[in-house]
Amino acid sequence: MAPSLSLVMVFSLVAFSPLCFGNYLSPNYYDHSCPKALEIVQSVVAKAVARETRMAASLLRLHFHDCFVKGCDASLLLDNSSTIISEKGSNPNRNSARGFEVIDEIKSELEKACPQTVSCADALALAARDSTVLAGGPSWVVPLGRRDSKGASLSGSNNGIPAPNNTLPTIITKFKRVGLDIVDVVALSGSHTIGFSRCTSFRQRLYNQSGNGQPDFTLDPTYAARLRSGCPRSGGDQNLFPLDLLTPAKFDNNYYKNIIGAKGLLSSDQILFTKSQNTMALVKQYAENMHLFFDQFAKSMVKMGNISPLTGHKGEIRKNCRRIN
Ligand code: HEM
Ligand SMILES: *[C@@H]1O[C@H](CO)[C@@H](O)[C@H](O)[C@H]1NC(C)=O
Ligand SMILES: *[C@@H]1O[C@H](CO)[C@@H](O)[C@H](O)[C@H]1NC(C)=O
Ligand SMILES: *[C@@H]1O[C@H](CO)[C@@H](O)[C@H](O)[C@H]1NC(C)=O
Repeated sequence: MAPSLSLVMVFSLVAFSPLCFGNYLSPNYYDHSCPKALEIVQSVVAKAVARETRMAASLLRLHFHDCFVKGCDASLLLDNSSTIISEKGSNPNRNSARGFEVIDEIKSELEKACPQTVSCADALALAARDSTVLAGGPSWVVPLGRRDSKGASLSGSNNGIPAPNNTLPTIITKFKRVGLDIVDVVALSGSHTIGFSRCTSFRQRLYNQSGNGQPDFTLDPTYAARLRSGCPRSGGDQNLFPLDLLTPAKFDNNYYKNIIGAKGLLSSDQILFTKSQNTMALVKQYAENMHLFFDQFAKSMVKMGNISPLTGHKGEIRKNCRRIN
């Protein structure tokens, strides 16, 4: 046999046997083992978003909160058990992360079609993409083949996910720790073009931003007054406000226009414009050019989705996303 031919055979073996050889993700991962996987996820997400528009935002955020803690391994989805302290109880997630029932529904449909084949981590990655598209945002091809963790990290969730009152250097450091750069920070923050925040996540800005009893002066005063009426000094912690006051349900680039107009809701949003020339320049570019934003958002989502996946024989395919097998 000619050496070139055997080389071709080795290559195709590798390509078609991701379970045996692969330490990489591939968009075609389920083409043979579960050809309907992508349709199943899309159709459950579409039904959920039709029931409640906000669900698109909530599902997009779940993928982020998964990937920033031990990588994209569905650690976020595990409930408390004898061996697990759930990440759902962390500061960023408690009374905030939502959409877990939709992931359950996706997983149960996937299990019916292809038992123990499609990971919960991949279901999250696909749901984030489908949610973005349903809200009017960009699409991208999702690399697949992640496996699910056998553990969770409460401390990783508390420390790894940026807080809304973190400084810009802290936020940049938390992104850098998982291999993401300043461009990713600004583009992925554009997720806040959809969805809601609770009063408790931005109250500090309204009353006592720096500990001197003064509000955050980088927040538009009229907008701040309006926010104070729904977000009192004490109480009303769970009251909801749109992250993008112009088009809260549409995935567009108004988030960046709000920021330029001093109407970013979270401190972490506004500081992209006020604390660094580099991030300010990117905010301006994305405000001016929605295609540039969409293009970078798609690239940054793929990059985020590639954070430390479990592949090969590491991890497992959970039967139920809430518990290890
Ligand atoms: C840059 C650092 C980030 C910070 C500090 C941050 C912080 C927050 C906070 C405080 C909320 C409101 C939560 C609540 O009050 O319940 C929120 C909501 C949200 N975040 Fe972020 N976030 C960041 C980056 C991201 C990224 C990278 C994504 C996605 C790729 C994302 C997607 C979302 C979405 C879609 C919502 C709305 C969720 C809903 O309505 O259920 N965020 N974020
Ligand atoms: C998990 O259990 C711990 C106590 O062991 C509790 O503090 C925490 O709130 C629980 N988390 C959830 C999400 O129920
Ligand atoms: C950020 O918010 C948390 C929770 O509300 C608070 O405990 C902390 O003191 C705040 N940090 C700063 C620097 O203001
Ligand atoms: C503002 O915060 C500082 C420190 O966090 C606190 O000492 C002070 O009492 C607060 N002022 C008001 C008016 O709430």
